[in-house]
Amino acid sequence: MSDDHRSDSATQIYLRLLRYMRPDLNLLILGFIGFMVYAACDSAFAWWMKELVDSIEGGLSHRRWELALVIIVIFLLRGLGGIGGGYCTEYVARRVINKLRHEMFNHILRLPCEFYEKYSSGSVLAKMIYNVEQVASASTNALRIIVRGGLTVVGLLIFMFYINWQLSGLFLIITPIMALIIFLVSKRFRGLSRNIQNAIGNVSERAGEVLKGYEVVKVFDGYDHENSQFSKVIEHDMRQRLKLVLMNDFSTTLVQLVVAIGLSSLILIAMQPKILLSMSAGEFVSFVTAAGFITRPILQLTQVNAIIQQGVAAADSIFHVMDLPLEQDLGHSKLENCRGDIEFSGIWFRYGDDQDSSTRKTDRKWVIEGVNFTIPAGSTCALVGRSGSGKTTLARLVARFNDPDKGEIRIDGIPAPELSIASLRQNIALVNQNISLFNASIAQNIAYGAMKEASRENIIQAAEHAQVMEFASHLPDGLDTQIGEAGITLSGGQRQRIAIARAFLKDAPILILDEATSALDNNSERLIQEALRHLMVNRTSLIIAHRLSTIENADQIVVLDEGKIAESGTHEELLSLGGHYAQMHEQGDEVS
Ligand SMILES: Nc1ncnc2c1ncn2[C@@H]1O[C@H](COP(=O)(O)OP(=O)(O)OP(=O)(O)O)[C@@H](O)[C@H]1O
Ligand SMILES: [Mg+2]
Repeated sequence: MSDDHRSDSATQIYLRLLRYMRPDLNLLILGFIGFMVYAACDSAFAWWMKELVDSIEGGLSHRRWELALVIIVIFLLRGLGGIGGGYCTEYVARRVINKLRHEMFNHILRLPCEFYEKYSSGSVLAKMIYNVEQVASASTNALRIIVRGGLTVVGLLIFMFYINWQLSGLFLIITPIMALIIFLVSKRFRGLSRNIQNAIGNVSERAGEVLKGYEVVKVFDGYDHENSQFSKVIEHDMRQRLKLVLMNDFSTTLVQLVVAIGLSSLILIAMQPKILLSMSAGEFVSFVTAAGFITRPILQLTQVNAIIQQGVAAADSIFHVMDLPLEQDLGHSKLENCRGDIEFSGIWFRYGDDQDSSTRKTDRKWVIEGVNFTIPAGSTCALVGRSGSGKTTLARLVARFNDPDKGEIRIDGIPAPELSIASLRQNIALVNQNISLFNASIAQNIAYGAMKEASRENIIQAAEHAQVMEFASHLPDGLDTQIGEAGITLSGGQRQRIAIARAFLKDAPILILDEATSALDNNSERLIQEALRHLMVNRTSLIIAHRLSTIENADQIVVLDEGKIAESGTHEELLSLGGHYAQMHEQGDEVS
């Protein structure tokens, strides 16, 4: 997804990330101690070199046991410190990842519907998987390099100053030059990392779409098209990555060169006769050893910038999603003993989003234009009209998936925005036009969400009414049969029946059926209609159907045409009116 970023500064983002680590501060300190031991051992090794060379020069052979033992202890401690520090920081980072993933998941679940309409699932998945992982590597690797490398550098510097402070001071002159180089490439890194994350999002978006639409690809021979689309996105990804590697290596080489120049000037100066005389051979060797040792962590410290910038860019895009405003629920009224009176009063609605210029609302066409009608509590209202006339949109407004731009929907006389969304939705049972099932058993799909404690009897009863039993009883595990991702192992009509059973089980005062029986054969549909008639007694129902025969008995039929109400009345009234409905009726049962 291409993010329209409000760029926070890198420090702000990093501080926000660090806040996630605060609860594990103890572990971090433990890790810090581990790294401190590790760093101290590097300086100890330089000291050991000095002792060794001095002992050899002085012919102190009795020290051999001591020196041999000490080197083992130094490396043992170094190893233990490294392992302890590494594990502790990794543990903290993994906890941060889990917290980030969980928070992001929970946030995404509660975002308003516009989010799901705007972003592809592939790009959101890429954020949850790839970007979060990058944050992990930023926090652990960067922390390890900074703490372990930083401490090593400090330790060795102290040692070097102790041996010869004038020479060490000289060595330090090169530091600002390195800092300047790092500063200059820093900004570019972040931009490149963001490009890479977007590229990864595009890759998973393309792949995800093809996996879902494989049948179309096969039958319409979409192989070449999909392949060329896919190569475009992966090549873009590759170019961005190569740029990053080049940038990284180039800046590292530059820094290395500066260090080498520093070392060579050091040797030139240190090996002048005057200075050579003032130092013992051991001191000289250990000084050069320390100076050589110090270059590696310094180099790592220069690369840490790239890692941090990657992490910051990733965290930025994650925080971008986590900062999207949640579905607004400002209403405090609750629907107690909802009767189900629904009133549409001067409703205007169009899709789009005011924040995003590409989908700006004001550029869009009205989908619902000035709709007024009432569904009295306990009655059945059918919504008919041509495809695209706005039926689904109107039904979605009732469940507040979207809110009208003008006008008001009132439930039991209470304006919808004053109702708590949770309370409103508790009173609505809905069967979508696009059925959503989950990879679980039939029974779990029927007793979904808040209904998961439903008794087995009630589930079976709902399943019987919705004709689910008719096919479930032939399955090996009956209602406990697993149905695969999105119910892939079931036929379209079977999926619809499970969704209807879910609505039956919810037993809510308001029932919305959007083309709920469109995929069923006449016989199953008749049986379900029969069951529905029982269910609809004392319930407010909004039924959307193309097959007019299924809605003839409705108390009220509303005919929508391009977002406006063309006519409304009972079946007989509309027939005698001789308008849209009569025409649709004449053209046959099916309208589209
Ligand atoms: N998420 C969306 N974003 C933008 N426009 C949309 C969106 N969903 C629907 N529309 C548009 O709104 C109009 C009404 O769509 P709607 O789904 O309400 O029609 P419908 O009457 O239910 O049609 P059908 O009988 O085919 O289901 C259509 O022109 C459609 O293109
Ligand atoms: Mg529809």
